[in-house]
This record gives sequence, structure tokens and C-alpha cells, in this order.
Amino acid sequence: MADLAQAREWLSAATRVAVLTGAGISAESGVPTFRGEGGLWKEYKPEELATPEAFLKDPRLVWEWYNYRREIIGKALPNAAHKALVQLEIRKREYTLITQNVDGLHDRAGSGRQLKLHGDIWRMRCTQCGANWPDRRVPLPKLPPHCACGGLARPGVVWFGEPLPDGMMKEAEHAAGAAEVLLVIGTSAVVYPAASLVPYARHGDAKVIEVNTEDTQFSKDVDAALRGKAGELVPQLVG
Ligand code: OAD
Repeated sequence: MADLAQAREWLSAATRVAVLTGAGISAESGVPTFRGEGGLWKEYKPEELATPEAFLKDPRLVWEWYNYRREIIGKALPNAAHKALVQLEIRKREYTLITQNVDGLHDRAGSGRQLKLHGDIWRMRCTQCGANWPDRRVPLPKLPPHCACGGLARPGVVWFGEPLPDGMMKEAEHAAGAAEVLLVIGTSAVVYPAASLVPYARHGDAKVIEVNTEDTQFSKDVDAALRGKAGELVPQLVG
């Protein structure tokens, strides 16, 4: 298993890099993760808050939860890991940032286009006419919010049981498969299809570098499993 110095060399030598991020990259910005200590799914039930069925049953309850999360995320600032990825993007000829996060902290750090596999908490979508628009108001003035057409608006995120945005997973697979290095940061890698990108990249011969405070199901199979906080390790890796 390679160490930080070796992982740094791989990353520095690679021209094609893909990065997969999860909630752990935003933990040091004060955004709670989903699993592990203090994780949201310890306190709340995903099936009551993050499924289309839950929204159909009680849109106001679901919106209260998203409004609460928007309040926390709205106060959060990108940390050193988000910022280091912006530097990495500048240096690499081919760079794809794939994120499971809906918090928009990569945008705020200055990252370019991302594959936001699970959508964006700062966007709304009309359940009636399908319109899709940004909304950064915190707190939202009225719950549940509505579209100009009168239809009920929903958060612009992907819920459990829903497909990912059209074509996005294919694009993510293409990037992970073509990459010389896949950097996997702060994800428990248990939610599919996002988690499948790790074995996918390995079959495509990429060096897989994992940055996480804890072991995951893939840790023993990756090329470097770096244990520690993203805000400390990612800047060191990117150098
Ligand atoms: P999780 O909450 O499942 O995992 C967060 C990971 O980050 C864990 O493996 C932690 O060990 C690690 N971690 C925590 N703090 C860290 C730090 N400072 N530096 C590095 N690593 C740290 O989050 P995700 O894997 O992103 O989906 O969860 C995937 C999906 O499950 C989410 O996108 C969300 C959730 O349910 C939907 O809502 C559809």
C-alpha cells in the first residue's frame, strides 16, 4: 500500500485525473455527514425525508428538513480541500470532478464544471411543469415553495430510488475509466451507483487514492488509502 509521498507522485505525473467527493470533504466546513459519528442518518430516517414517497406524503416536512440543511450549508465556507482541488483542476489537462455532495461548496471554492450526481440543494424543480431554477434564499420565505406556474417545487436533488440526472453516470464512468488517477475523498462509498466508480476506475488501470478518516469497503483494494482529514491531506497531495 502506497504512502502519501507515492500518491503525490502519481497525482503529479498524471495528465488525466478524476476526483470523486462525498460528504466528508465538507465535514471540516461544518456540514454534517450522513453516516458515522454525528451523521444525519443517525438522527433522521432517509425514507421519511429523502424519497419521492416521503415528499408525496408530506412535502412540508421534507422542505423543513431541506430548509434546515440550507441554513447550515449557507453558513459554511469551502475548506482547504475544496480549494486544493481548484488548483489541481488548473494543472491538469483532463480533469473531472464528480461529487455526491449537494452543498455547492465546490462551486463556492471556484471549481469549474462538476458532475453533481445527487443534484444541488440550491436549485429547485417544479413537480408540475419541470422548470428548474436556482434559489439561494435562506430561510425560504414560505414552505413548501411553489413555481411561477403554481406547481409545487421540490429540491433539485436526487432522492433514494430516483435515477441520476440523464447521462451523468455514463460521463462519470468515462472519466473514471480513462483517468490515470482517481482521487476518492470523504465518501463512505456505500451508495450506488456512485460507489461503483471506484472498482470501475481500477479496472481501467487508474491508481486509486482514497482520502478518508476511516476505512471503507474499498480501502484494502485501493492503491493508496490515506487516513486523515481531507482539509489536511488533500492540500499535501496536490502540493
Ligand atoms: P457519508 O456520510 O456516507 O460518508 C462520509 C465519509 O467521509 C465517511 O466515510 C467518513 O469516514 C468520511 N469523513 C468524515 N470526515 C472526514 C474528513 N474530515 N476528511 C475525510 N473524510 C472524512 O457520505 P457520502 O459517502 O457522501 O445521498 O454519502 C453518499 C450519499 O449518501 C449522499 O450523497 C447522500 C447520502 O444519503 C443522497 O441523499 C441520495
